[in-house]
Amino acid sequence: MLFSTRPKEKKQDLYNRDKEVEMIKDSISRNEWIAVLGMRRIGKTSVANVAVNESGFVRIKVDLKTNCTKEEFLSILSQAKAQSTDNKVILVIDNAQYLPKIAGVQTPSIFHNLYDNYTNVSVVLVGVQLS
Ligand SMILES: Nc1ncnc2c1ncn2[C@@H]1O[C@H](COP(=O)(O)OP(=O)(O)O)[C@@H](O)[C@H]1O
Ligand SMILES: [Mg+2]
Repeated sequence: MLFSTRPKEKKQDLYNRDKEVEMIKDSISRNEWIAVLGMRRIGKTSVANVAVNESGFVRIKVDLKTNCTKEEFLSILSQAKAQSTDNKVILVIDNAQYLPKIAGVQTPSIFHNLYDNYTNVSVVLVGVQLS
């Protein structure tokens, strides 16, 4: 097939998004968290994939679109924390607009704890912009 409908992974496959990729890479290098927001199908997942791949750090990714349970979400979070003792880890949370839908997960306190105590974990939130 000539054109894939999947999100892109490589910079050479991504058209006209150098600025966005650099912005995300900059944030990652400064250990800042970043949100990639925009309309559906505009290329958010692709831009985040390429930037994180280019950064060369460990990527841990969860897509909340596929009905992520509390256990799955917490397990991925634990993986990110565990890996961060030896590596810089980029935790990509795709379709982050569904975060409030994961039953029983207190996201504000989880993120507060992650931000304060796990400085080797940078979070990239990818989501459809609400409002
Ligand atoms: N800059 C781009 N260059 C080439 N293909 C792109 C670009 N942005 C998006 N696409 C393609 O468009 C489709 C939607 O991209 P995706 O990253 O899944 O968007 P989103 O996450 O915003 O819904 C995919 O097939 C992807 O490969
Ligand atoms: Mg997407």
